[in-house]
Amino acid sequence: MDERYDIVLYGASGFVGRQTVAYLARHGDGLRWALAGRSRERLEATRAAAGARAAQAGILVADAHDPAALATLAAQARVVLNTAGPFALYGSDLVAACVRLGTHYVDITGETPWVRGLIDRHDAEARASGARIVPCCGFDSVPSDLGAWWLAREIRQRFGESCVEVNAAFSMRGGFNGGTAASMLNLMASDQATALGNPFLLNPEGTAPGDKAPHRDPVGPRHHPDFRAWLGPFLMGPVNTRVVRRSAALLRARGDHTYGDNLVYHEYLRTGRGIGGAVKAGVLSATMGAAGLLMHWAAGRRLVARFLPAPGEGPTEQQMDRGGFRCDLVGRSRSGLVLRARVAAKGDPGNRATTVFVCESALALVRNADLLPPDGGVLTPATAFGEVLVRRLHAAGVTLAVLSG
Ligand SMILES: NC(=O)c1ccc[n+]([C@@H]2O[C@H](COP(=O)([O-])OP(=O)(O)OC[C@H]3O[C@@H](n4cnc5c(N)ncnc54)[C@H](OP(=O)(O)O)[C@@H]3O)[C@@H](O)[C@H]2O)c1
Repeated sequence: MDERYDIVLYGASGFVGRQTVAYLARHGDGLRWALAGRSRERLEATRAAAGARAAQAGILVADAHDPAALATLAAQARVVLNTAGPFALYGSDLVAACVRLGTHYVDITGETPWVRGLIDRHDAEARASGARIVPCCGFDSVPSDLGAWWLAREIRQRFGESCVEVNAAFSMRGGFNGGTAASMLNLMASDQATALGNPFLLNPEGTAPGDKAPHRDPVGPRHHPDFRAWLGPFLMGPVNTRVVRRSAALLRARGDHTYGDNLVYHEYLRTGRGIGGAVKAGVLSATMGAAGLLMHWAAGRRLVARFLPAPGEGPTEQQMDRGGFRCDLVGRSRSGLVLRARVAAKGDPGNRATTVFVCESALALVRNADLLPPDGGVLTPATAFGEVLVRRLHAAGVTLAVLSG
């Protein structure tokens, strides 16, 4: 293969794509990279807007529905970083090309039914070709997946026991992208929406427990003793929990006992303490329940879409600067010993943090390949990158810390 480029950014002219271009321009010293997408004109405008440090980046044109052009693109890349979504509409042929050619792949999807399709179609072939196919490298699901794994590993090292339970509570401030809205609406309109409710949607065959009751997604408000605060359901929980459960199963299949059998992992949004926190958790639960119901009908989706940004739109620079997130995790060992961890970053989670997570994931594949677990396949951030990504994120200013018990 003629790998002219270390990283090819696909979807580079989109809202998140433009931010990945800016990030690699700042952090890609010595990197051979290219911007890719369907429109040469928009890609050139994106490169020009990123300034002198992006001037050396190449341009590759390939429509998401042109398998021959995508194969030519994948053949020139060591790693494809994809931000073109909805991924169920624009990602499938690109992943197929990467798997066939042994090109590593990372993206920022949260569309779990689409990821399930990738596992079914490509996991075996990617294991054989050595391609690391790593979806969900954005805000969904790096803080959850890497945070839970880092905490579980610390529990194993300090206490000599597997981690059997992790609870995670998110606090966040951020905007909403048009591309995210389009992905949600497309997913709810597809015949795969019912798959979202399966807590083990992404697990390898035969690794889901018989009793799924302890693993169901939280739907109502609750006061949680681990956080001594009120919590409600977290919008991204049904994505992140599936990714964490896949990580636990893949690690156990490698003979790694960081996680125990049937890890219990739950995610929540923190709403606060006292009566105010309780009221907020109640309102959040009711709103999410109503929105979920509404999205099952075409008329409901049309109504919701009127209040959401269009593809290509997103928060302003000022809004993105003001954003941030914090994810507090509480883990338990088999005998009940407790350890806490925190993942946090400044800036809008869906844009600033997502850009750092996915670019550092791609850079790990280029710059630290010899330190990564060797397996190809359809992987998760924790199983593909583990400690390497933790260290890269520390260096990039992300907080990822184990606290006291
Ligand atoms: N994990 C996370 O935390 C996170 C955060 C933010 C976004 N996301 C996801 O990332 C995706 C993109 O979000 P966004 O806000 O950047 O969306 P966006 O601005 O609408 O960008 C979509 C991209 O897809 C490209 N595209 C559309 N049709 C195409 C085709 N036929 N062939 C090739 N490319 C095509 C667009 O190209 P043009 O520029 O030529 O129009 C654009 O680059 C969404 O799926 C969203 O859910 C995830």
